[in-house]
Parts: sequence; structure tokens; C-alpha cells
Amino acid sequence: MISKLILIALGPVLAFVLPFAHGGPNDIEVQLDDGTKQILKKIGCYKDKPFPNRALRDLYHNHRWDIDWSQWPDMTHVISACASWAKRKNYNDKFGVQFYGECWADADSSRFNDHGLATNCINGVGEHWSNFVYSMKGVCPPLKMNLVFLIDNSGSINDTEFDNFKEFAKKLAESFTISATYTHVAAVYFNTLANFGFNLKYDINVIKTAIDNLPNIGGGTHIGKALTYTLDNVFKVAPRQNVKNVLVVLTDGKSHDSVTLPAAAVRNYGPGVEVFAVGVGAGDSFVAQLNVIASDPDEDHVFHVEHFSQIESTTGAVEDEICKDTVHRTQEGHRTPDIEHRTKYFEHRISDTGQRT
Ligand SMILES: *[C@@H]1O[C@H](CO)[C@@H](O)[C@H](O)[C@H]1NC(C)=O
Repeated sequence: MISKLILIALGPVLAFVLPFAHGGPNDIEVQLDDGTKQILKKIGCYKDKPFPNRALRDLYHNHRWDIDWSQWPDMTHVISACASWAKRKNYNDKFGVQFYGECWADADSSRFNDHGLATNCINGVGEHWSNFVYSMKGVCPPLKMNLVFLIDNSGSINDTEFDNFKEFAKKLAESFTISATYTHVAAVYFNTLANFGFNLKYDINVIKTAIDNLPNIGGGTHIGKALTYTLDNVFKVAPRQNVKNVLVVLTDGKSHDSVTLPAAAVRNYGPGVEVFAVGVGAGDSFVAQLNVIASDPDEDHVFHVEHFSQIESTTGAVEDEICKDTVHRTQEGHRTPDIEHRTKYFEHRISDTGQRT
């Protein structure tokens, strides 16, 4: 009773604090069966395969016989049950909901994307052979960060596809605490040349409008030149030099110029720029180029999808990586070195579209 009264008294305070503490587009809140609340980050819909190639290998709880179908399409009670049991079984990172009510996890939670993105999830749960994956780590803390987008608008990208890049950028920007103290956002777009979209800003509405206003121009794909431009005109002149620096490169094509040295120069600037490469395309050389651009380990920094329409569904995973790395950096001063250097990227079998430029 007393604690309830305290809660009521604190209500106005919490109401003020909580919107600040969460509400990102990738977060949902569930109630666990011990009565506590848990924020989950939606990581997205990923393929699974039969034994011995299961992505998340442990069916730690099966809720299929307890699904209350009268609540469909609201599957929150299933997601809550999987989250409750994950906590009980000490799976504190990721779990997946498969076949409407199976709860899967793994001691090596990075396996969740071993088989790439899937499209057959519905209402927050996987159907046959797909996991809808959640992260238990919850809200990303407010980060002092310069978050910079480098967006390809070369000739191979039509307006619908360019809109997919914009939606991705807006949703990822919105995932963080945008303010003078915390995250600032800038965008550069490139084709044969690189140009400012806008320099570092910290008003989310202004940022979203500025992203919407980025022009789709067309031309070649000079990623190397664009990386150098971004280093010189954004990172080197940023008002805040000692905050986390993140560059997210969005592209659909192979660069016409070399990316190796320009990308290394960006990554090694100052205290370091963490570089993510998000690519839509096919072919080993395309993936190899994303790996050259991105920070190591590639499996955490390269996000490779088959279709433009899938890009937006990777924002939860990218947000999760940006937050994870911050925790590592602040706790240990560097990334944990023991992560395997395997390139894990999302499904990339494209038969007919081939290489884009
Ligand atoms: C752009 O290309 C996609 C296929 O990648 C197609 O579905 C879409 O209709 C095209 N949009 C425009 C405006 O041409």
C-alpha cells in the first residue's frame, strides 16, 4: 500500500522522466510475470534452419499451448512470456519468438542473424522457420554522439528506393536522445560528388525535415571521395571532438574509386569513428567492399540486405550495436577482442538484379 502511494506521488515525476528514458521506435514495453516492466528492443525478423543449424539453439520455453488466440492480433502475452522465461533462464541478451509461441535463445546470441533476414513474421512473432528477435537490454542510454549518415544517391537509386534510405535514417536518428547535450546528427549525400545534406543538428524535427528534403540526384558512386569529404567537413570540424563518433554509410553499389584508405582515415580519426556499412545489393565483391568500409568486427558493423524495403527493419539491430559498443568502450576502453571475425550479413542471394553501380 505504501509503495503504491509513493508511486502515485511520484507519478508526475515519472511521467516527466519516462518519455525521456524510452519511447524509441524500436522499443516496446512488456510486463513480466513477476509484475515488473521490461523494455525490449525489436531486432527484427530472421530466418531459422533445422537442427543442427538452428540460429538460436535452445528452445527454452514453449508457449504454444498457452497462446490465447482470442487476443490475436495482439501477441503481447506471448512476447511477455518469452521475456519472463528468458530472464529466468539467464538469457539477458536476445531471444526469438518462433512459430507463434516457441521461445528460442542461445548462449551465443550473435547467432540470431546467421541465416539472414526473413519476411514471414507477423504481429511481433515468427511464423514457420522464423524468429522475431528481441533484445532484453532495453533502452539505449542517452549517448553523447555525433551520428553522421553518408547516403548514396547515385543513378541506380530511384525515388522509392531513396525514400527507403531516408526512412532508415529518420528511424535510426529517432532511436537516440537528440539534444544539445547528447546526440547530434548530420547527413552527407554523394554520387560522383559529395554534398552536404545538413551539418550537425540536434532538433529531431529539424533533422527529420532535412532528411526528407535530401535530393535524389543521380550520377556515379564515388564512396572514397565521399568518405574523405565527410571526414574533412563533418568530423574534423565538429564542435564536439571528444564524443562518440558514428558514421553510417548507406549504399547500393560498388564504388568507382577506392575506399580502402579513405575509410581507414575516417575510422582512425581522433578517438576513432565507428563506421557502419548498410548495403542493398549482391555479389561477393559488393560485400567485400562493405567489409572494407566498416569497422571490425564486420559481423557487428555490416548490414547487408536484399531489397530496399528491408532496410528499415535493420534499425533495431544497428541501434543495438551502437549502444552495445558504447557499453564496451566505457567499461573497458576498447571492444571485446574475442569476437570471431566472421562476416555475417543478411540474406543476399539475388539472382537477377546483379551488381549495381
Ligand atoms: C523503384 O524500383 C523498385 C524496384 O527496386 C520498384 O518497385 C519501384 O516501383 C521503383 N520506383 C519508382 C518511383 O520508379
